Amino acid sequence: MVLTGGGDCPGLNAVIRGIVKRASQTKDWEVIGCIESFNGVLREPTEIVELDEKAVEGLQTMGGTILGTTNKGGPFAWPVKQNDGSWTTADRSDEMLRKLQYMGVDAVINIGGDGSQRISLGLAEKGLNIVGVPKTIDNDLSMTDYTFGFQTAVQICTEAIDKLVTTAASHNRVFIMEVMGRDAGWIALHSAIAGGADVCVIPEIPYDVEAIKEKIEQRYNKRRGFCIIVVAEGAKPKGGDVVGTVTGEVGYQHIKLGGVGDRLADELRNAGVEHDIRCTILGHLQRGGTPTAFDRILASEFGVRAMELVMEGRFGQMVAYQHPDIVAVPLADAVKAQNLVQPDCRLVDTARGLGISFGDRRD
Ligand code: F6P
Repeated sequence: MVLTGGGDCPGLNAVIRGIVKRASQTKDWEVIGCIESFNGVLREPTEIVELDEKAVEGLQTMGGTILGTTNKGGPFAWPVKQNDGSWTTADRSDEMLRKLQYMGVDAVINIGGDGSQRISLGLAEKGLNIVGVPKTIDNDLSMTDYTFGFQTAVQICTEAIDKLVTTAASHNRVFIMEVMGRDAGWIALHSAIAGGADVCVIPEIPYDVEAIKEKIEQRYNKRRGFCIIVVAEGAKPKGGDVVGTVTGEVGYQHIKLGGVGDRLADELRNAGVEHDIRCTILGHLQRGGTPTAFDRILASEFGVRAMELVMEGRFGQMVAYQHPDIVAVPLADAVKAQNLVQPDCRLVDTARGLGISFGDRRD
């Protein structure tokens, strides 16, 4: 049984296709898909679909997920409404495992980010034959060089910077572009380099608004000039905090990040920047549309390898890309730590070498 959990991302369908195509090369395996992560098993009636070669034809080009997904709840924290109207959660994992056994499911492949792989680990510890596949545009999973979806998001952000440059230059404006990534600055860092931004603000390097102001002024000759600032949604000023909201959506356990770009615009105006400032929030555009060729290939490799792990009976593992190989790593290691940008890493040095300011010093 295969399922997709957490936020969608380009390449999910390519993984599903890889799994089904590899499985169909033997007579031993039939693949079924569970709708909306584990919800398809937990709901009554169950929501399960058969996946054969016909069902996955051409899927490598399609964004989103044909199985649907959710980043709310799950078998260990199923939302339950109480008599007073408030919500609590129930652990339905044992009930789900019994149901999977009754259904004759021999193995599960869970395609998802860190939250989903924590669920995979919890279920593996309870004896489920499960293999994880790492996905997320944020690229914040450790033990894999890249998650699929990330490269597509970077491409989308880079193209957006290319577009903002022409309007910024025409109007002598400062443009702030807010990108996703949660606690990780990977999308911002990669797209800032690829797009030739002037400033890159990431969660791992708290910013000083005066340093950003100084960089902006360097980019202007009196009135004429422009400046492109890429800011990651999880960025925070020195001594400050992230900008986010509690959505109140049932089962949604995160703070919904967003708004740091507008806050930075206000901070820059208050610090005395007199140029026009505009903020563009790319939002879910970064997760939509067709995967790049790189992500299609990585996702296909993950799908095929995940199915092979199932065939080999190697469970409790997550497939990972460790250049040049696709390897299997224990789920327990995969979820131990987040993959964040190290402030002294090569890519940050490269960015500084290109004159990109991280807003952390007066350079
Ligand atoms: O984890 C992927 C991601 O797109 C983050 O970059 C972002 O903060 C979050 O999901 C948005 O979640 P939602 O789709 O619930 O708004």
